[in-house]
Amino acid sequence: MNEANLIPHGAFDKPELYHLVVEAATQLLAEERDAVANAANLAALVYHSLPDLNWLGFYFLKDGELVVGPFQGKPACVRIAIGRGVCGTAAERRETVVVADVNEFPGHIACDGASQSEIVVPLVKGSRLIGVLDADSPVVGRFDAADREGFERLARLWVESIGAGVPARICDASQESGIGS
Ligand code: SME
Repeated sequence: MNEANLIPHGAFDKPELYHLVVEAATQLLAEERDAVANAANLAALVYHSLPDLNWLGFYFLKDGELVVGPFQGKPACVRIAIGRGVCGTAAERRETVVVADVNEFPGHIACDGASQSEIVVPLVKGSRLIGVLDADSPVVGRFDAADREGFERLARLWVESIGAGVPARICDASQESGIGS
């Protein structure tokens, strides 16, 4: 990726940092509508711009479950059922879930033993659930209200970047059976 897009995160407070990351992401995604390309570049930008993350990436809804998409970090669990773990819970509720201490979250799925806190934002286009944006931190209590707002803005930016439709290769028609509709 272009190093020029990366933000030197040590120099800013959280709202400033998110403002800069959202600006950089807006530029990075502006010329492209490919959902996977934009997910990959957004994951790289955010992972390398925000402090204290050990995993950041996408899960997409396919065949009624979440399947891992572009990410940064260690290899992850491939499939997560709706309602399971932090990701499946955010997908089922269609709302952001912030977990201060994953050891206290019943059903948390540990992909990387270093993860101590987590934020998961649902990706919704119109009335359709497409997937989730997930970030893990090795620091307990890493994600606060400013992070929630920042991640929700970044998730919206990605959803808007892919245009009007939902590409079949990331999210198939099986969700019409009820999940996410
Ligand atoms: N911890 C997540 C699983 C995905 S990984 O963190 C990459 C969960 O409980 O759903």
